Amino acid sequence: MSAIPAYTKIDSGFLAQLVTILGAKNVFSDEVSLVDYSHDETEDLHYEPEVVVKPVDTAAVSALLKLCNTHHVPVTPRGGGTGLSGGALPVYGGVLLSMERFKSIISIDTENLQATVEPGVITEEFMNAVAEHGLLYPVDPSSKGSCFIGGNVAHGSGGPRVVKYGTIREYILNLEIVLPTGEVIWTGANTLKYASGYNLTQLMIGSEGTLGVVTKIVTKLIPKVQNSVLMLGSFAENEQACAAVSAIFRAGVTPSALEFMERRGVEWVVQYDAIKFDIKDGVNAYLMIEFDGDDLDTIFKDCEKVNTVLEEFGCTAVLFADTAGQKEELWRMRRTMAESVKSNSVYKEEDTVVPRAALPKLINGIKEIGSRYGFESVCYGHAGDGNLHINIIKAGMSDEDWKNKLKDGIVELFQLTASLGGTISGEHGIGLVQKEFMSIKYSEINLNLMRGIKQVFDPNGILNPGKIF
Ligand code: LAC
Ligand code: ZN
Repeated sequence: MSAIPAYTKIDSGFLAQLVTILGAKNVFSDEVSLVDYSHDETEDLHYEPEVVVKPVDTAAVSALLKLCNTHHVPVTPRGGGTGLSGGALPVYGGVLLSMERFKSIISIDTENLQATVEPGVITEEFMNAVAEHGLLYPVDPSSKGSCFIGGNVAHGSGGPRVVKYGTIREYILNLEIVLPTGEVIWTGANTLKYASGYNLTQLMIGSEGTLGVVTKIVTKLIPKVQNSVLMLGSFAENEQACAAVSAIFRAGVTPSALEFMERRGVEWVVQYDAIKFDIKDGVNAYLMIEFDGDDLDTIFKDCEKVNTVLEEFGCTAVLFADTAGQKEELWRMRRTMAESVKSNSVYKEEDTVVPRAALPKLINGIKEIGSRYGFESVCYGHAGDGNLHINIIKAGMSDEDWKNKLKDGIVELFQLTASLGGTISGEHGIGLVQKEFMSIKYSEINLNLMRGIKQVFDPNGILNPGKIF
């Protein structure tokens, strides 16, 4: 970590001011709360804040940030706490700003196909609410049942359907934000086009709570899709499965999801989540491929095209899930993979992304680096986007090597990713745990531009300090 800025410690006088501006029922300094908010889903990291606050409206967030900016107290915003890069960890203590009381879906505009929503709404609840109007908000990270839409904005989140529908970047039209200095602005316009100066909306997306606190979100919506078919292809080798990925697109089809899973990941999910799934001998990798649309005939034609491609790449069996129950079960298998790996092992998680034709080189390289450093890995992820989550498993590595040598292995993983034209995170963000690797991908010129932007928004460095750089 770089030199710790001299932040002001919170004393009873400051706490009293917080109570005055936020109300006593929204300020928590008891030990249970401090511990509850000291971690997210990132490995086993813990940092206690000095106080947790849960404001209820934009005016309160503004007053809070003004106060903290004046007194040089760090503020760490937090959504659902499902992050995997340590973005919500209050590494310098200070105020933990939970957005959990911003729970309102303010409006669903069925004429313009837009919605205005507060950041503390759980992503899946938002998806369900718009679905009642025949509409689709397709950004569905694996944690959709517990993550907040505000956290998704902060991370530029993706998920399985990005391959057809794009990331959250394609769906956010406008944001109300509170700047670290307390001013409140809207970043853009509620329009589908925007050529009116620098695009502050896009700058805020993926800025990981370092530039401003999002208090309202305007999203684009699309019509709900009526049908889908899910296929699961089995492969003897990782490399063949990965090579089939780019060939699927070259065959002229666009799946609504194309996920890769290694055998070990599936075994652990079956064990962890009691999913009934027959893992056949000789199968080491799976591709989960979904097509959606309104016309089932078109979907089946696309499935046939994919079947031909899968055969060319040595796929040994294809399972078609067309009942809602089968589809749900397979998706549950994929979505719980991160949790299952976590529950089975001491691990570290990486989130590499490469142009998708480079996936075979990436997966082979991961295994080769692992064999030299003595770690195992379970890889899975959004292969259609070239995005592989690498769970590095301690396995036979000594504590000493895990602590001291693993980092060199991770550096090699990221060097490989960069040399293949990729980058070090596709959707989990940089946060705390990946910041030391940023220079593998980005020059000082890039990093200084980013630091300059941070300085303009947050001259006193109070908002989510210790992240990204
Ligand atoms: C997933 C999360 C870990 O894809 O990004 O399951
Ligand atoms: Zn993912």
